Amino acid sequence: VYKRQIYASHRVESVPTDIDDLLKTAVENNARDHITGVLWTDGNMFIQVLEGERWKISTTYHKIAIDPRHEQIELISCGAVDRRLFEEWSMAYYGDTRVNRKFVLKYSGSDQVEPKRMSETSMLEMLIDLTSNHPSRTGLRAA
Ligand SMILES: Cc1cc2nc3c(=O)[nH]c(=O)nc-3n(C[C@H](O)[C@H](O)[C@H](O)COP(=O)(O)O)c2cc1C
Repeated sequence: VYKRQIYASHRVESVPTDIDDLLKTAVENNARDHITGVLWTDGNMFIQVLEGERWKISTTYHKIAIDPRHEQIELISCGAVDRRLFEEWSMAYYGDTRVNRKFVLKYSGSDQVEPKRMSETSMLEMLIDLTSNHPSRTGLRAA
């Protein structure tokens, strides 16, 4: 039994976020902790799915939640699951690209990501569609 946790947050504009740096840390830590998932951003918002052993997800989420690079974290779901959906990725990353925006249009019916209007299911469907049809170009395949 694993835990899957999904949240959405807003980037803090006044804090410069070096996404390569953020991903490097995330991937290194997650590979060590057997955490998998996806990080999605349109430059303003983040959506992240974290999957793994319960206590490791909790520990990591508590670090993420106090990170000054984002705020207004909305916990979308958190629960036990039988299997991982993103087991190949220490942290697949989808940034602000045309393809990415097309997927948002397809799943949220808007060119903006409004997690408050998107269901957990449509968010997961969007991320599954992205990871299966547009493998993360950051090449962050879990070992
Ligand atoms: C949007 C966002 C997503 C993040 N995702 C992860 C993650 O998946 N794993 C992780 O270890 N850190 C992640 N971080 C970074 C953590 O907040 C924190 O800086 C990091 O875990 C500290 O690592 P350290 O203890 O190795 O210095 C994320 C930060 C942000 C802002």
